[in-house]
Amino acid sequence: MCGIVGYIGFREAYPIIIKGLKRLEYRGYDSAGLILFDGSDLKLSKTKGKVSDLEDISKEITLNGNIGMGHTRWATHGVPNDVNSHPHLSNSGNLAIIHNGIIENYAPLKKELIKRGYIFHSDTDTEVLVNLIEEVQKKDNLKLGKAVQVALNQVVGAYAICVFDKKNPDEIIVARLGSPLAIGVGENEFFIASDASPFIEYTSNAIYLEDEEMAVVGLNKPLKIRKIKDDSLVDPYVQELKMNLEQIEKGGYDHFMLKEIFEQPSVIKDTYRGRLHANLGLIQMAGVEDNLEKFLNAERIVIVACGTSWHAGLVAEYIIEEFARISVEVEYASEFRYRNPIINKNDVVIAISQSGETADTLAAIKLAKEKGAFVFGVCNVVGSSISRETHAGAYTHAGPEIGVASTKAFTTQITVLAMIALRLAKAKGTLTNSDFHRYLQELELIPDKVAEALGTNDKAKEIATIFKDAPNCLYLGRGYNFPVALEGALKLKEISYIHAEGYPAAEMKHGPIALIDEHMPVVVIAPKQGHYDKVVSNIQEIKSRSGKIIAVVTKGDTQVRELADYVIEIPDTSDALSPLLTTIPLQLLSYHIAVMRGCNVDQPRNLAKSVTVE
Ligand code: M6R
Repeated sequence: MCGIVGYIGFREAYPIIIKGLKRLEYRGYDSAGLILFDGSDLKLSKTKGKVSDLEDISKEITLNGNIGMGHTRWATHGVPNDVNSHPHLSNSGNLAIIHNGIIENYAPLKKELIKRGYIFHSDTDTEVLVNLIEEVQKKDNLKLGKAVQVALNQVVGAYAICVFDKKNPDEIIVARLGSPLAIGVGENEFFIASDASPFIEYTSNAIYLEDEEMAVVGLNKPLKIRKIKDDSLVDPYVQELKMNLEQIEKGGYDHFMLKEIFEQPSVIKDTYRGRLHANLGLIQMAGVEDNLEKFLNAERIVIVACGTSWHAGLVAEYIIEEFARISVEVEYASEFRYRNPIINKNDVVIAISQSGETADTLAAIKLAKEKGAFVFGVCNVVGSSISRETHAGAYTHAGPEIGVASTKAFTTQITVLAMIALRLAKAKGTLTNSDFHRYLQELELIPDKVAEALGTNDKAKEIATIFKDAPNCLYLGRGYNFPVALEGALKLKEISYIHAEGYPAAEMKHGPIALIDEHMPVVVIAPKQGHYDKVVSNIQEIKSRSGKIIAVVTKGDTQVRELADYVIEIPDTSDALSPLLTTIPLQLLSYHIAVMRGCNVDQPRNLAKSVTVE
């Protein structure tokens, strides 16, 4: 994980780096640091804590200069403290580095460097890398770019790095393998960052380095990209960015998470805009159309994902099997990649990822490709590694999701996957014409219904007041709403640190029901469509054991209302699309509970938005 920012040009680097780090703080916030070259020497400032802490301590130092770099850390090697914070300096003090990733073979490299007299101040793998570069540079009297290349060829692991030499202060060397790195190309200036958000107000031109590529980013010289392994030159591909500033700011909300929850009506519309034509009875998605035969000939679809994206995959399993009658399996990417799965050439693998950078999902994609499968990506971040690694795909168009807890990513992923299921059903004739048209129309109505479901905000807040101090919470759902129960529990635990579990409601009697007593809040997802009567029976079972029931029901429901302690009403829709609505009050409930418990909603402890380590 970690966020990296660099600047070289004619502006003051400090404000650009600080602002950039704030935008990248979703990637990790254990510590922050920066380094600038002021014309004669390096100026380093770093600290445990957040970028705001870095700003505070940096007030004491004069930090001027037109070249510099900064880092916000999600700790891997070494506890979060000042010393382990990046940037790291080489022993001579000439080289500075920032790094996002893990150097797996750092231990033997470190041992070797210690033998050669190097001294280490931190516990990080990164300090090993910068000294390895220095050693290579000194030994063979190489230019920095070449030394970085030689050193990286000795390294096993993942990295996005920026390296800078104070004796040659007109260039920054960058390289990537497994961790993202974008270069913003301006007029006589360059920006470097983990994603484009730190530089969108300066330039809309960006180059995304591919894995195993490096570049010398310098003033008054052409930008050259090379393959790290064989030194061959690569033509830089400059992409035009579509992101705007408003999308990455809070827009009057207290937290990004709340803003993103409330964006769902508009982003779901963005997701299906130009793809869903309910009046014409059409779904058109280029990535699916171009590969329709592959989907139709698939013996099965295997979905790989992590976290919330995995939950969206579970919803998709139910929808695709029901609509298109294609067998679907959903795998945790982290398990799939290490268990020698059986994948055939006729399998279609769908990889779902908001960030498009999740290391486990990327590794699962690589494995599926090696085994000959066709791999289709469902990503949010345009130009992300997963979107480039997959054979084809569909973007979710949710806009930047900054809050670490995924919200709008989940609903837009389901929207994309539901459209895929409908397109396949149309081609296979597995849905009747009238059902097909009905689903298209219902999907088109979802944004308005999500807007109505957002009207439960006050109710969710009221319920949050009552349950904010609960130590545990259960979430139950059946069918399409079982994955929503898992997602509701994940949202609560990750931002409020309350222990929460999601179960299929009928599984209660196989064990978890033993947990129920008068202190246990149980959130039951009980919309009218689906297995309503069965869920009502499950509610009765909880009620008779004195559990406190918070039920999410369809507007106008009377039966559950009589049994539940608290009800939250959402609009009616079909069973298959109901997760797009039932999840809304659960997101709001978690949000309010976390706020009331004084938790850092957007940056929960120990987490990061983009999980680029395994
Ligand atoms: O970017 P991805 O969708 O691949 O991320 C997967 C998970 O890391 C992510 O969904 C995580 O579980 C979220 N914090 C959940 O809110």
